[in-house]
Amino acid sequence: MRILAVSGSLRAASLNSAVLEAARRLAPPGITISIYGGVGDLPHFSPDLEGEANPAAVMDLRARVGQCDGLLIACPEYAHGVPGAFKNALDWLVGSVEFPEKPVALINLSARSVHAQASLREILTTMSARIVPSACITLSIPSRTFVADDIVAHPEFSAQLRAAITAFAQEAFAQEADVGAAQLSHAK
Ligand SMILES: Cc1cc2nc3c(=O)[nH]c(=O)nc-3n(C[C@H](O)[C@H](O)[C@H](O)COP(=O)(O)O)c2cc1C
Repeated sequence: MRILAVSGSLRAASLNSAVLEAARRLAPPGITISIYGGVGDLPHFSPDLEGEANPAAVMDLRARVGQCDGLLIACPEYAHGVPGAFKNALDWLVGSVEFPEKPVALINLSARSVHAQASLREILTTMSARIVPSACITLSIPSRTFVADDIVAHPEFSAQLRAAITAFAQEAFAQEADVGAAQLSHAK
């Protein structure tokens, strides 16, 4: 399974990005996690820019989404909402053929950040993502200074991350099989 990990934070020392890097290192055999680092390079979304000649950064994002079997998203809350740069990236995927039906797992780093998580779920569901509940976790990391090494070395956080990734792979494939079977019976 190929997972594309996307951080909702552009901050160089982002904890959300560190968690995704830790997840990449902790992925069990058979699961490859690659990090998408282009959220900050995308132009501001406008329907006027969409079409046959999409900007190169958008083509790259869509191609990466198309090549993965699922998306792992870790996103902070800004002013009770989803950070603008990350919402911009999602807006570029609304009209794509690559995104709909994509399995998605969400990592939340603060139990207090309920508004952004709720909003993110609403947006992703509207975009026809398949959110995998068993793979969505809240990691209550006590220090904002944690880096990927600290998370990998932490018994509890590394176990939670590994379990979420494993559940994601299992559920995403089970859902895929269900969708395939439904399409097959519908076609009969
Ligand atoms: C502009 C701004 C607004 C924020 N608003 C909220 C908020 O509404 N609720 C919240 O729980 N945290 C809020 N935070 C805290 C961030 O969610 C927190 O710092 C998070 O760790 C940032 O993630 P990062 O380390 O990946 O950059 C805000 C931070 C910033 C910079």
